[in-house]
Amino acid sequence: MLSSVLSLVVLLSATGAAAVERVEHDYYKYHPMPEITDWMAQVEKDHPDVVTVVEYGQTYEKRTISLLKIGLNTGEEKKAIWMDCGIHAREWIAPAFCQYFVRQILQAHKTDPKMQEMLKNLDFYVTPVLNMDGYIYTWKDNGTRLWRKNRSPGPSGCNCTGVDLNRNFNATWGTIGVSFDCCSNIYCGRQAASEPEAQAVTYFVGSRKEAFLCFLTIHSYGQLLLLPYGHPNFTASNYNELMEVGLGAADAIRRVHGMNYTVGTSPAVLYPNSGSSRDWARMLGIPFSYTFELRDKGTFGFELPEDQIQPACEEAYSGALHIITYAHDKTFSGAVATAAATLWTMLLAVGVTGNTLM
Ligand SMILES: *[C@@H]1O[C@H](CO)[C@@H](O)[C@H](O)[C@H]1NC(C)=O
Ligand SMILES: *[C@@H]1O[C@H](CO)[C@@H](O)[C@H](O)[C@H]1NC(C)=O
Ligand SMILES: *[C@@H]1O[C@H](CO)[C@@H](O)[C@H](O)[C@H]1NC(C)=O
Ligand SMILES: *[C@@H]1O[C@H](CO)[C@@H](O)[C@H](O)[C@H]1NC(C)=O
Ligand SMILES: *[C@@H]1O[C@H](CO)[C@@H](O)[C@H](O)[C@H]1NC(C)=O
Ligand SMILES: [Zn+2]
Repeated sequence: MLSSVLSLVVLLSATGAAAVERVEHDYYKYHPMPEITDWMAQVEKDHPDVVTVVEYGQTYEKRTISLLKIGLNTGEEKKAIWMDCGIHAREWIAPAFCQYFVRQILQAHKTDPKMQEMLKNLDFYVTPVLNMDGYIYTWKDNGTRLWRKNRSPGPSGCNCTGVDLNRNFNATWGTIGVSFDCCSNIYCGRQAASEPEAQAVTYFVGSRKEAFLCFLTIHSYGQLLLLPYGHPNFTASNYNELMEVGLGAADAIRRVHGMNYTVGTSPAVLYPNSGSSRDWARMLGIPFSYTFELRDKGTFGFELPEDQIQPACEEAYSGALHIITYAHDKTFSGAVATAAATLWTMLLAVGVTGNTLM
């Protein structure tokens, strides 16, 4: 046995090339931040024709926030799709989904004419982990696994750490579903966009706002598709279309593994809130802005077991693709068939989630 192992080693070093065989990325495991950063560099290296790593900000703890820009360089002005994962640190299925999403579109790019068409017309901007400091903190030990916020210190006189980044965006900031107590899990910060992570998104997306058709921000849990606005006194001008496309996405999700997703505004199906990135993006003028709350409905909650990563990602991919395809086709091939007739009856099938913050 030992001698055969030794001869294998000799054989490998003799052939040279096989000596530095690389470990395949396991998309069905949760990965700590350094592995995700390495994976991003590897994806860029493996697909130099379509993938670029773009650095666009810094966290409170001075880590570089980066995204993967995916699309064919056509030399033309392109439309764009935004996706961010991991704005809430403990929602580990979200970064896992962004990794899966990137792999799927890169695979489809080789095999699927529709994806080839979309990658000609669109650039995908995917941030696998936005709240990097918080995500790293949840990997520290069991006591920190359920951390939600970023890691910036509270104002003087308050000893608690962290701002809820999804209450910190400049959209009806500080008005509802927030706390001004810095110890709260929904502390919205000193002022709108006070946090470097929120500033990074605000600047990057804000400076290209005409390009973005979709803004998809990925969370867990609850199996929800949330549309703007979180403030009950405001209604999105394209509410009916957002609802219809959202219901179509929920149908697409259900067809994969039979899971039910509920579609609606945050106050209608979860709780009212302000300062979310979804609302901010819609107010900026990005038409298709959604929050995905992935699996499950509370059995495991934020600690979704690894054996559910694959089905959770498969179904959510189908839902995301429905929204992206709709937005693409509406922009690039004129009219899109609508099916408003069934809308209002489906609206009634609204589920209820508990009080946990997603
Ligand atoms: C952390 O929690 C897991 C599961 O709850 C347990 O198996 C493990 O022993 C814990 N580790 C520590 C260091 O407490
Ligand atoms: C904050 O922490 C300091 C040092 O640990 C302590 O002296 C002070 O009483 C704390 N303040 C509050 C408001 O808890
Ligand atoms: C928030 O947005 C409003 C309206 O666009 C703008 O006037 C204000 O300066 C922004 N505030 C911050 C802190 O960015
Ligand atoms: C929403 O509008 C109602 C009626 O104008 C008002 O009473 C209420 O305070 C508003 N809610 C919020 C959260 O501003
Ligand atoms: C989804 O909802 C339908 C209709 O309410 C129900 O029959 C079905 O069992 C649900 N599926 C799951 C997986 O909960
Ligand atoms: Zn969340």
